[in-house]
Amino acid sequence: MKISENFEKKQIKSFSLNFDKKLIRHIQELKSPDKRIKKAMIYFAKTGGKRIRPFLLCRMGLYLDIKPKILDDFALSIECVHLHSLIHDDLPSMDNDDYRRGKLTVHKKFDEATAVLAGDMFQVLSVKTLAESKNLSDNQKIKSIQMLSKANGLEGLIAGQSMDIYMKKNSIIKDIETMHLLKTGALFSLCFNLLLTVKKLNLNKKRELKKIGDTIGKIFQVTDDMLDRWGNEKKVGKKIKKDSQKANIAYKLNRTECIKYLKLIQNRNYKAMQNFFNKKREPLLYMSSLVNFIVNRIK
Ligand code: IPE
Ligand code: IPE
Ligand code: MG
Ligand code: MG
Ligand code: MG
Repeated sequence: MKISENFEKKQIKSFSLNFDKKLIRHIQELKSPDKRIKKAMIYFAKTGGKRIRPFLLCRMGLYLDIKPKILDDFALSIECVHLHSLIHDDLPSMDNDDYRRGKLTVHKKFDEATAVLAGDMFQVLSVKTLAESKNLSDNQKIKSIQMLSKANGLEGLIAGQSMDIYMKKNSIIKDIETMHLLKTGALFSLCFNLLLTVKKLNLNKKRELKKIGDTIGKIFQVTDDMLDRWGNEKKVGKKIKKDSQKANIAYKLNRTECIKYLKLIQNRNYKAMQNFFNKKREPLLYMSSLVNFIVNRIK
């Protein structure tokens, strides 16, 4: 990744081309007497996600001068957690979705048992990637696996997914925000927090880094909720208007209110980044234009 001032879409495109090759190789290298689960994992890896979490992680890692090989391990591990969450999120017992990224979901392409197990295996692979890293010390491996388990577990993603499924449509915004921070924010925060296992930062910087992750997570889920209500189904690649009976922020606020709400979080994010980068122009410009891309995304 080269240092440049402004984020441009083509940068994440070329990043993901490269990242996808590593991801597919990583899955192909798994040894197993079974063929089915690997096939399902490769199918899903090839449906082409945005790879926004790996991109954020690698970019921030670049500013913190972290070795690219370490960033690759972290990025693969994070994306595996994410892929696990999507396969399970789409299951009939959860959101019951037939399409994701414009392609059949794993349980539709294969069957439910295969989807459950492929999701499980992505979760296993996220831990295995860190545990078997050739680039981390034993101590760094333990710390990063602890962080990953926390973000993916009952203090993070799994708790948020449970709350989302059972939360009432008329829940108050504060409760919806908590659910967003858990189901989506935890993984975005992890993209930055994992870097702390290899880079020492003072308490103040750590606090700002947490705010950066939390606000990007919130922005990401609010825009996802908005895409469900106002997005273009073809571009979004998944069924829209499916959350009308759910605790979804875009069915609670109108479009103008949503945009205002997003602006508010984006301002909070900008302040945290100003403090974190100590007003250094280049990273601040780049990261804020990347956040702007997330705010205005159409898929
Ligand atoms: C979708 O995440 C799930 C949410 C947390 C809203 P992404 O929009 O990052 O999914 P892909 O990987 O790009 O398909
Ligand atoms: C998903 O939220 C969050 C996850 C942790 C997977 P959604 O259920 O709204 O995500 P989509 O809309 O299916 O991608
Ligand atoms: Mg869901
Ligand atoms: Mg869903
Ligand atoms: Mg959604």
